Amino acid sequence: MRDLTGKLAVVTGAGRGIGQAIALELAARGARLAICDLHDPCETAAAIGPDTITGTFDVSDREAQEKFFAGLPRVDILVNNAGMSIRKPLIDLEVADVARVWNVLMWGAFHTCQLAARRMIAQGDGGAIVNITSVLAHVPWANSSPYNGAKAALNQMSRTWALELAPHRIRVNALEPGWTDTPGERAFSTEEELREGGAKLPLGRLARPEEIAKGVAFLVSSDASYVTGTVMQVDGGVSLIE
Ligand SMILES: NC(=O)c1ccc[n+]([C@@H]2O[C@H](COP(=O)([O-])OP(=O)(O)OC[C@H]3O[C@@H](n4cnc5c(N)ncnc54)[C@H](O)[C@@H]3O)[C@@H](O)[C@H]2O)c1
Repeated sequence: MRDLTGKLAVVTGAGRGIGQAIALELAARGARLAICDLHDPCETAAAIGPDTITGTFDVSDREAQEKFFAGLPRVDILVNNAGMSIRKPLIDLEVADVARVWNVLMWGAFHTCQLAARRMIAQGDGGAIVNITSVLAHVPWANSSPYNGAKAALNQMSRTWALELAPHRIRVNALEPGWTDTPGERAFSTEEELREGGAKLPLGRLARPEEIAKGVAFLVSSDASYVTGTVMQVDGGVSLIE
């Protein structure tokens, strides 16, 4: 179980929700964690332990990212999880809405993946990167076009980076969660909507963040040593019906 002992794992957006569950899961498997979030991820850090490294910044801020990575002793694992959405139909979207979503989901992922990959290459020990995307990369959920498009782009960037980084033994995979019960999701839906929506899914309920974290733990572990360039769904079967 403590198969990640000796590894340094970076998790973005680890202050709550899926990112928090991922950080806790990787820590339980022995990794040392370096976590960051827009808001101080102190609650997650306290739950993991005192050797947790924390950063509070916007992932789309290149300078802040460079400073964070420069302060890390090493980087073996990156889980690029930070994300948000602005849900409006095409005709109501402001340019600033689209720019914000793309800055966080695409530039944020670019900065973290590039900086992590450069460190991994310099170390010469390989590495594992997981980009958290979404089933909305291929399910055209209405009023969510900037998010849907950015997640589709990140799937394809992940596959491209997997090919580029394979000679360095750095594996890159994307993981698409289905509908997951998180604070972020609760900002968009009432309890009743979550229950009724969940009942319509093949497995009859929303995912728990811990279930997404188990999928990530597999992808970064040595059990997945021959897995790169995949887009793995942990979605309760929603891709089968949408
Ligand atoms: N919950 C779902 O149903 C669902 C489904 C598919 C994919 N996802 C993806 O999973 C990831 C986590 O989602 P969640 O539901 O846990 O969301 P959440 O809102 O509950 O948590 C997201 C965390 O990321 C942080 N964050 C947001 N923007 C940031 C930025 N610019 N810089 C740094 N940190 C930032 C937030 O502060 C928050 O702590 C996201 O990439 C999301 O798109 C979620």
